[in-house]
Amino acid sequence: VEPINVALIGAGLMGSFHAETLAWRLPGARLVAIADPAEGAAGKLLGTLGRDGVRYERDPERVLADPEIQAVAIVTPGRTHPQLIQAAAEAGKAIFCEKPLGHSLEEADRALATVSRRGAILQLGFQRRFDAGYQRVRKLIEEGTLGAVHLLRSNTRDPAVPPGGVVQWAIFLETLIHDFDALRWLAGSEAVEVHAMADALVWPKGRPGMVDTALATIRFANGALAMADASFQSAYGYDVRAEVFGAGGMATVGDGRVDAALHYGPGGVSRPQVYWFKDLFGAAFVTEMEHFVDCVRNGRQPSVSGIDGRASLAIARAAIESAETGQPVRVNA
Ligand SMILES: NC(=O)c1ccc[n+]([C@@H]2O[C@H](COP(=O)([O-])OP(=O)(O)OC[C@H]3O[C@@H](n4cnc5c(N)ncnc54)[C@H](O)[C@@H]3O)[C@@H](O)[C@H]2O)c1
Repeated sequence: VEPINVALIGAGLMGSFHAETLAWRLPGARLVAIADPAEGAAGKLLGTLGRDGVRYERDPERVLADPEIQAVAIVTPGRTHPQLIQAAAEAGKAIFCEKPLGHSLEEADRALATVSRRGAILQLGFQRRFDAGYQRVRKLIEEGTLGAVHLLRSNTRDPAVPPGGVVQWAIFLETLIHDFDALRWLAGSEAVEVHAMADALVWPKGRPGMVDTALATIRFANGALAMADASFQSAYGYDVRAEVFGAGGMATVGDGRVDAALHYGPGGVSRPQVYWFKDLFGAAFVTEMEHFVDCVRNGRQPSVSGIDGRASLAIARAAIESAETGQPVRVNA
């Protein structure tokens, strides 16, 4: 079968991995173009790919105007996502977009209205849903093995922030957004109320929203209670875990092991810990992109949709409001 022609929009840290997946790891996809106003980032990626068939565009509009391109992977900074989704949907492209759907609900809703009017395929980059361990936990819940879900936990601890720094409230909008999505998916329910706290425990205090440590508690419509936490300075590397506690038992996922080897020595037993997201979720990033390409080929909507992007953003916005006011906040469903 003919591969699906895909263009990458945004050739940074995450975009480079998705580009490699589209160029090398998925026979069903063909990477045909890379758009990024930063020539340096794109040039570096093109050098790594070493593919003559991949062209460079400074302006994403140029790939959107190309009728040969069937799909785009938007891997630009989060606040740019709604406008790019809207333009891609208008241009009739299928869209893979990294999380988050956006930073404001108004912009996200406008983008989703265009997606829906144009009937565009849209997948959000919540790769935990494609991780084998998370999928097994979800299956235990679906099968009823864990019984009614009562408590959930989820955490993301990054070793550091990206070299370019982070935007205001990134800890909720860019990081905990993953946990909010995972918790919704595992709880099988929508969040109704959030109470959050956040602080600068690592960075100098004072700048609004420039926080490095955060905690959120969430009440779901089905009664389940959840807790999520995040840090931008994890001394031991990347640490992503989840726990689901139900009437019939408990399931956990995520221990950050690099491989199955353990070292037994005089100081005890030890193993290395993954350092960052590509180490832990490499396989899940490939599986999510495979799902996207498959959906484009078959004209199906992906299992992780714009609705999921919108719902997780609504939790993040409620968490920010709660952290600012100190009060519990209803989620804008
Ligand atoms: N799923 C995950 O675990 C995960 C991990 C890291 C990043 N991400 C997401 O990936 C996205 C990108 O993050 P990153 O770390 O790669 O950022 P980055 O800063 O490394 O790269 C972003 C790139 O986008 C380019 N860009 C900016 N505006 C653009 C525009 N309008 N059109 C085209 N290109 C544009 C920049 O020049 C830059 O090269 C973010 O949404 C982030 O949340 C997801």
